[in-house]
Amino acid sequence: MLLDRRLIPALILLVQSVSAAVTITHAPSGHSSSNHVIENELPFANQTHEVVKVPNSNVVLVSQMSNSVLVKAMVNNKGAILKLQGFQIEKPTSALHGLTNSKAFPGKVWLTLQGENKLVLIDPKVDSVRAMPEVLKEISVPTPGNGPHYIGEYGDDLWVSLQQSYDVLRISHVDPSDYNIYHGVPRPIFVAQHPINKMFYTGQDDSSSVMKIDPKTGKTTQFQVPANIGQTPVGMISGPQGVWFTLLGNATHGTGTVGHIDANDKFTYHKLKSTFGKDASLLHLAFDLDVTENHTLWLLSSSIVDDDALNMIIKVKFDSEWKTIQSEDIFAMPTQGSQAHRILLTPTNVFATELASSKLLTYYNRRR
Ligand SMILES: *[C@@H]1O[C@H](CO)[C@@H](O)[C@H](O)[C@H]1NC(C)=O
Ligand SMILES: *[C@@H]1O[C@H](CO)[C@@H](O)[C@H](O)[C@H]1NC(C)=O
Ligand SMILES: *[C@@H]1O[C@H](CO)[C@@H](O)[C@H](O)[C@H]1NC(C)=O
Repeated sequence: MLLDRRLIPALILLVQSVSAAVTITHAPSGHSSSNHVIENELPFANQTHEVVKVPNSNVVLVSQMSNSVLVKAMVNNKGAILKLQGFQIEKPTSALHGLTNSKAFPGKVWLTLQGENKLVLIDPKVDSVRAMPEVLKEISVPTPGNGPHYIGEYGDDLWVSLQQSYDVLRISHVDPSDYNIYHGVPRPIFVAQHPINKMFYTGQDDSSSVMKIDPKTGKTTQFQVPANIGQTPVGMISGPQGVWFTLLGNATHGTGTVGHIDANDKFTYHKLKSTFGKDASLLHLAFDLDVTENHTLWLLSSSIVDDDALNMIIKVKFDSEWKTIQSEDIFAMPTQGSQAHRILLTPTNVFATELASSKLLTYYNRRR
């Protein structure tokens, strides 16, 4: 008797299941916490620059320089913006840029108006996103100083880079007639105080030079960045055992290099080694908040001068002596061509502004 053709597949399945060798059991399923990356849309502006989080609040402030707008945003613990409001600071040409939290006036924030040559202390009014910030103090940059860019508060003094006159300004916010102007070379961007020798340093991007200022004697000294190491020092901050800075590179090349200045002005350069790190165009940097325990430096690479450069957040772990790089973790930002600008660490978030795409990125990981 011929087998009914329709029964053949059923018979094959029967034979297979009798001799089945494939088994399925539970596999170990531990996993670490996921990262959350959100690119918060901000109101459109040609240039989105700096970011601060106002202490003891859920308010983040962002400066948009091209139209002099301050964005006040309420964020949740993952850094997602829940509500925001933009405020015109003076007029569209006033060029709002620098932002820093005041320590002398807790909860208040210093701004620079590069186009008005003014330093301004505001109460951002964190209780309500829509509430108008209030101007508490205005300090005019003394002539011949011009173009306040970065601002930092150190006791009674404000230290300010003056991008257009190539100067660094020290001015007392208690008595603004008490000031010094230190002349540099094109163009001072950041100012940082050395944690050990207490001198002030500024990176001058277009001259590839770092200027040291001795505030007691007024003496200034220039240190050239060696061309074979890289060029264009931009981000500069106080950190473990010294002042740390990043090299941005030029319109075609970055060199993935971070500099360290020790208490005796010995410069040490650390070059990244990973595939995407070694040529990165590094614009800005921030240390982990728990830096004494976790020897972690966060870097921001940016397409701001090289259109082909990747916009990335790079987490770099050093050895316990801060002498050698142990690991590099690369997070490419979802929007490329964005000219990533500033990086800010909070206890749970890494924020980054995107200059050309009007975005505030937040990278959230509780176990950063
Ligand atoms: C952005 O820049 C372009 C080109 O420079 C200019 O035409 C435009 O008006 C600017 N827009 C704003 C909102 O600033
Ligand atoms: C840009 O930097 C690279 C690498 O440092 C260098 O080889 C090149 O000559 C530089 N280009 C210009 C125009 O300076
Ligand atoms: C620092 O490292 C320790 C140990 O690895 C970890 O438990 C802690 O969460 C880290 N802190 C931060 C802020 O990353």
